[in-house]
Amino acid sequence: MKVLVTGGLGFIGSHTVVELQNEGFEVVIIDNLSNSSEDVLKGITTITGKTPLFEKLDLREKASVQDFFKKHNDVAGVIHFAASKAVGESVEQPLLYYENNISSLIYLLQELQQKPEASFIFSSSCTVYGQAEKMPITEDAPVQVAMSPYGNTKQIGEEIITDTAKVTNINAILLRYFNPVGAHKSVEIGELPLGVPQNLVPFITQTGVGLRQELSVFGDDYPTPDGTAVRDYIHVVDLAKAHVIALQRLLSKKNLSKVETFNLGTGKGSSVLEVIHSFEKVSDKKLPYKMMPRREGDITEAYANTDKANNILGWKAELSLDEAMASAWKWEQKVRSK
Ligand SMILES: NC(=O)c1ccc[n+]([C@@H]2O[C@H](COP(=O)([O-])OP(=O)(O)OC[C@H]3O[C@@H](n4cnc5c(N)ncnc54)[C@H](O)[C@@H]3O)[C@@H](O)[C@H]2O)c1
Repeated sequence: MKVLVTGGLGFIGSHTVVELQNEGFEVVIIDNLSNSSEDVLKGITTITGKTPLFEKLDLREKASVQDFFKKHNDVAGVIHFAASKAVGESVEQPLLYYENNISSLIYLLQELQQKPEASFIFSSSCTVYGQAEKMPITEDAPVQVAMSPYGNTKQIGEEIITDTAKVTNINAILLRYFNPVGAHKSVEIGELPLGVPQNLVPFITQTGVGLRQELSVFGDDYPTPDGTAVRDYIHVVDLAKAHVIALQRLLSKKNLSKVETFNLGTGKGSSVLEVIHSFEKVSDKKLPYKMMPRREGDITEAYANTDKANNILGWKAELSLDEAMASAWKWEQKVRSK
């Protein structure tokens, strides 16, 4: 069965392609390489023994998307990762984010609605919850006013899919990721942030190899056990597996409604200091870091209630924070040794 993975050469997409191929799916990737490289195909091939089909195209070009579906008219499902994802950049260039993240989604749905049936998996984010009132966060926690244009594209994306599914043959699953980290254990694929990393773990590993002088920990006076902010770090391989399960659920028509939403996290909150200590443990290195004031827009804590994902989707995160940090560290060392 052929599955389209948009953004399939990116961080989460590439790990998902591996899991899809391991489950016997035929994968075709769309990516414009704006935040990835064609070398990732080699990593996927080394791990799985199979090279996925690859179409280099920009999803903002409607005609290219139309041509793609004419050529690949046997696509049974779509996992849509392709998007711009840097929160800070989205504040500076909102239209770039609205154009890329929203027009790509619309063009894909316009093609899929012409099919007798279509299964669609969407990369959403726990940012839709903002600072939720209750921890752990359940899927019915209210969606809050987005704190950035990037976050808003996820909320709007969810709404566009929900409205479209109501009146078409599209069935969809919205996956709200918490904080994806780590790399494949083969060290053939991993996260490749451009420039200064926006996320904690690549910043830590880059500091570990000496690329960054020290890590700034923003805020040590949050109302959390050690004063630093708490997040739910989910290993990217666990996350990738959830996509395969979600797709199989739609393809086998086990979904209970036209659009379902699941949190993807471990259910465990870890503080910034706990992540640093995990890195220090697995790398046997001291990480230089300094405490800084809180950063505007950062929330205190966010971790998932995973009951719905565990009991209804039938998926559970299995890998630990230490395993994620060890794989991220191995990956960073490999990338820097090239
Ligand atoms: N990584 C996270 O922390 C995180 C958290 C929550 C949600 N998400 C969402 O998950 C998805 C994947 O994230 P990621 O971390 O793998 O990002 P990534 O940047 O590594 O991957 C995205 C891929 O999409 C491609 N792409 C972007 N715009 C495109 C376009 N117009 N046409 C074709 N290809 C395009 C990029 O080249 C890249 O390979 C994104 O939608 C992101 O918003 C990520």
